[in-house]
Amino acid sequence: MNLTERVQNLEYAIRDVVVQAKQLEKKGKEVIYLNIGDPLLFDFDTPENIKEALIQAVREGFNAYSPSEGLPELRDAICEKEKKVGSIDVLPENVIISNGVSEAIQMVLGALVDNGNEILVPGPAYPPYISYTEFFGGKAVQYKTSEENGWQPDLDDVRAKVNDSTRAIVIINPNNPCGALYDRKTVKAMSDLAGEHDIPLISDEIYDQIAYDEPVSTANVAKDVPVIGLNGFSKIYLMTGWRLGYMYLTGYNEEMLGELREHLTKEARIRLSANTPVQKAAVEALRGPQGHIAQMVEKLRKRRDYSHKRLNQINGISCAQPKGAFYFFPRVDGIGSKWVNDMAFVRDLLEHTGIVFVHGSGFGSTYGSGAGSRS
Ligand SMILES: Cc1ncc(COP(=O)(O)O)c(C=O)c1O
Repeated sequence: MNLTERVQNLEYAIRDVVVQAKQLEKKGKEVIYLNIGDPLLFDFDTPENIKEALIQAVREGFNAYSPSEGLPELRDAICEKEKKVGSIDVLPENVIISNGVSEAIQMVLGALVDNGNEILVPGPAYPPYISYTEFFGGKAVQYKTSEENGWQPDLDDVRAKVNDSTRAIVIINPNNPCGALYDRKTVKAMSDLAGEHDIPLISDEIYDQIAYDEPVSTANVAKDVPVIGLNGFSKIYLMTGWRLGYMYLTGYNEEMLGELREHLTKEARIRLSANTPVQKAAVEALRGPQGHIAQMVEKLRKRRDYSHKRLNQINGISCAQPKGAFYFFPRVDGIGSKWVNDMAFVRDLLEHTGIVFVHGSGFGSTYGSGAGSRS
């Protein structure tokens, strides 16, 4: 069978590492999976009111396709939420519901990337931004984020990498995999850069309410630049398996937004609709009680503090303190000497301890791989 190059080149390190783990499990080894950001695999669960809302939606007959852009009620609830949490004004017609942020990433990059185009993504980055850019024939160019500076973007590096082929700059804030929270000044500088080059910012804020310091929403800062905000229900509302997310568009340039909205809507129509009953449950998630969020963040904060302390106590391992989300991106001395590369370290660790980590180079080969300078 002749398979396309674009499919043959696809990689997703976060799940790819599981293959070796499964083989070990088959041989009887107990394996602990710390490779994937799914709180439901640990001691977190979807709040009862959201579960009930899903059951009720199914019973009440919300089982047909929804409008491709999403249920009007949910688009309204999202605007209310974005106003309350991010202090931003979004119009319901500028919200499109997707089957997870993952699908939104695919749709947004599908609308922006042609052969030879470049997308600036953080280095290290959540891998689908790299994979989908390449899938659509583009090139993901990683801008440096500095560990010594809490994994904030190196603005000189971002500036040096924007060129005529750049179609968008991606911000992931709070960040996966480094746990950084970009401050207002940094987001403003990124937005000024995007403005100078007349390109949009793609801002993934799926961890917006899992922050241990004050988070900032890009659209709140970048008022005169088109912002494609991405968000979803997986993490904050503990609905990972239900697959629901959304994108929203803000910015002063109505002409640019209108064109983008039209193309994203066309993509939304091709895949018919997002999951209808889950959209009903998502309305309850947004408008119902929010108490579980503070409880979850408190629990995660304690674990962050403990794990941060313990990691830094291990000889040869050091780690910046994450300010948001639930990931650590530790530095491991000895990669390149004791272990040939970070992949070898992760394999070794898995074999000896049964714990599954993701190698840093799974988030991009330049920054965070441990190779060469500690970039
Ligand atoms: C930064 C980021 N964006 C998007 C996703 C995927 O979200 P969803 O479950 O909504 O597809 C994840 C999942 O880990 C993530 O970390």
